[in-house]
Amino acid sequence: MKIAVIGGAGYIGSHTIIELYKAGHSVVAVDNLVNSCDESLRRVAEIIGQPVPFIKADARDAAAMDKIFKENHFDACIHFAGLKAVGESVAKPLEYYENNMNATFVLLNAMRNNGCKNFIFSSSATVYGNPAEIPITEKCPKGAITNPYGQTKSMLEQVLIDVQKAAPEWNVVLLRYFNPIGAHPSGRIGEDPNGIPNNLMPYITQTAVGIRKELGVFGNDYDTPDGTGVRDYIHVCDLASGHVSALKAIENKCGLAIYNLGTGHGYSVLDVVHAFEKVNGIKVPYSIKPRRAGDIATCYCNPEKAYKELGWKAQFGIEEMCRDAWNWQKNNPNGYRKG
Ligand code: NAD
Ligand code: WQD
Repeated sequence: MKIAVIGGAGYIGSHTIIELYKAGHSVVAVDNLVNSCDESLRRVAEIIGQPVPFIKADARDAAAMDKIFKENHFDACIHFAGLKAVGESVAKPLEYYENNMNATFVLLNAMRNNGCKNFIFSSSATVYGNPAEIPITEKCPKGAITNPYGQTKSMLEQVLIDVQKAAPEWNVVLLRYFNPIGAHPSGRIGEDPNGIPNNLMPYITQTAVGIRKELGVFGNDYDTPDGTGVRDYIHVCDLASGHVSALKAIENKCGLAIYNLGTGHGYSVLDVVHAFEKVNGIKVPYSIKPRRAGDIATCYCNPEKAYKELGWKAQFGIEEMCRDAWNWQKNNPNGYRKG
């Protein structure tokens, strides 16, 4: 299939392009580079041994999206483009709603105007709020969301459900990602956050490489085995291959389909720190800090539905996630931009 990969220069998009090529698909990556740089795509090209067609454009630019969809006759669109920092979204709600909602509206219109009816959306476990059940199945009701970023995911899921209902010939797959970490095993592409990382793994790798002094562990008084927060970390390459599987659902005319993409295993913050130290033979200094506002104790999924219906399941364990995250960080201590 020929796939439009919107937000393709970013962390998950760049890894997904590799899996798409491996499965025999072709892509055009589109990105405005607001949170990435095209060096990621140059390195993807190096890994796959062929150039990655790339168009620098903003997904909110209706004329640009219309032209791209008109000229390319895509079979499907995978939509990664969005702003994703939870804390920043609380400080800049308008920017988050404006970017994430409008980008999706404009894309859907460009698709409708040009006969592309297959859409894969990057949703998030955040739509479950403080989950009503653990492990979380797709039947779990959506929960109260405490930040504008999460609201955009939940609202866009509803928009997409309604769009598909009104046009049943569309196939729409909502992928609810759990916590993607790690990097391509080559160490050439990985997560390159701007400024101080919000997420656990980039904070750990930046501490290990000496950019940060110590990791703050946000709370050790949760109702979890060691008191620290438990999450379902998933290797970004496994998450990427989940998109290839989602294309199979589209080929089978799934209509609307919703899948959790996680491993089904919950690891605490200290489990991750200790796994990272053990597999990489490097210390991660840390101290216990107060809880972070909006955090929940435990979040991990039941990934059976994706396995039963798509044959997809995660292949990598926490050791590989920690090994590959460190391989990326130590080979690119300043990410893509500075060497
Ligand atoms: P990322 O920031 O690395 O990638 C997103 C890409 O979209 C970036 O390259 C950015 O430049 C681009 N972009 C943003 N707004 C755009 C616009 N208006 N037009 C064109 N390009 C635009 O983030 P990621 O971690 O790769 O996440 C990809 C998607 O998955 C996002 O939608 C994110 O919300 C979602 N998601 C991420 C996680 C996670 O933990 N990383 C978890 C759940 C869901
Ligand atoms: C994981 C655990 C923290 C940093 C977020 C978004 C979610 C999704 C994935 C996009 C928690 C603890 C973290 C640190 C710490 N993104 N932690 N010290 O919060 O599960 O999910 O990213 O959709 O929507 O909310 O991920 O990596 O920030 O935190 O102790 O410096 O690590 O408290 O228990 P989270 P995270």
